[in-house]
Amino acid sequence: MHVVRTPGSTRAIARTLPRPVGFVPTMGALHRGHLSLVERARAENAVVAASIFVNPLQFTPGEDFERYPRGFEQDAQMLEAAGVELLYAPSVERMYPPNFRTSISVRDLGDSFEGAARPGHFLGVATVVAKLLHAVEPTSLYLGQKDVQQTAVLRAMIRDLDMATCVVVCETVRENDGLALSSRNAYLDPAQRRAAPSLYRALSAVRTAIAAGETDTVALRAHGAALIEPPLVLEYLAIVDPQTFAVQASAKPPAVIVGVARAGTTRLLDNLTVPAGDGVDPVLTPLSSPRTNLRS
Ligand code: PAJ
Repeated sequence: MHVVRTPGSTRAIARTLPRPVGFVPTMGALHRGHLSLVERARAENAVVAASIFVNPLQFTPGEDFERYPRGFEQDAQMLEAAGVELLYAPSVERMYPPNFRTSISVRDLGDSFEGAARPGHFLGVATVVAKLLHAVEPTSLYLGQKDVQQTAVLRAMIRDLDMATCVVVCETVRENDGLALSSRNAYLDPAQRRAAPSLYRALSAVRTAIAAGETDTVALRAHGAALIEPPLVLEYLAIVDPQTFAVQASAKPPAVIVGVARAGTTRLLDNLTVPAGDGVDPVLTPLSSPRTNLRS
């Protein structure tokens, strides 16, 4: 595995690699969710590239940038064992040198929900992912449904800026009790951890009700909120349009149910989709035909 620290050397090496190239950007502290993206990218590409960069631009003041879990050596080993051939891991100074002054704002999509709760968050995400894409120049970008608004923001950026990368959205990997894997789950104390799957149960109950024909969003929200167990506190639960992220006045598939619950200062983020009658998931990218012939 090539481990590279600068955009220039990343681009130079990436251009020598066989294509298609699948790219998995991460902030490290890797878990099975991240590795599932690498596996999917391996199945669909000749080469997999990944990045590890804890991006200060997407953390708001007072958030966990300083204490975000970092374990570069172990993460790099996991990526290499998973078959990653190029790992881009720049320093903050290299990513944002003095006088860095450009940022990418994806209007509307990036302003609601996570964008409202974390002002500037999606500006940081879009800016860093644009820079990572320029360094790696991948065929496809692999993202997790876990951060569904992030996938919508990045899709819009790639389309609006005519970037030559496809977006592949992969299923959320969960613990057995339903809790979505997240690097931030490490912050939970035992009582918070016990209550944490209640967010998934709340989203599931709302999904079941919508699939059964319930359209009243106030009733749906109350139905979900009632399932949140203390010490978790529901921050938001909403039913949105999968493309625009506009709140649905009346719930109607296809829809995405987005939710955040707080456990102390930790925000647990999750979502579930409700397909329309055709059964097609409104967010996930279907598996492309296996490209096993591309790999030795
Ligand atoms: P990070 O939180 O490290 O997540 C990296 C990728 O892993 C994202 O696409 C995220 O959606 C995906 N992921 C996280 N948990 C997952 C789970 N349980 N199942 C499946 N996929 C999961 O998201 C970021 O980093 C950053 O914003 C980044 C895109 C790297 C830009 O800095």
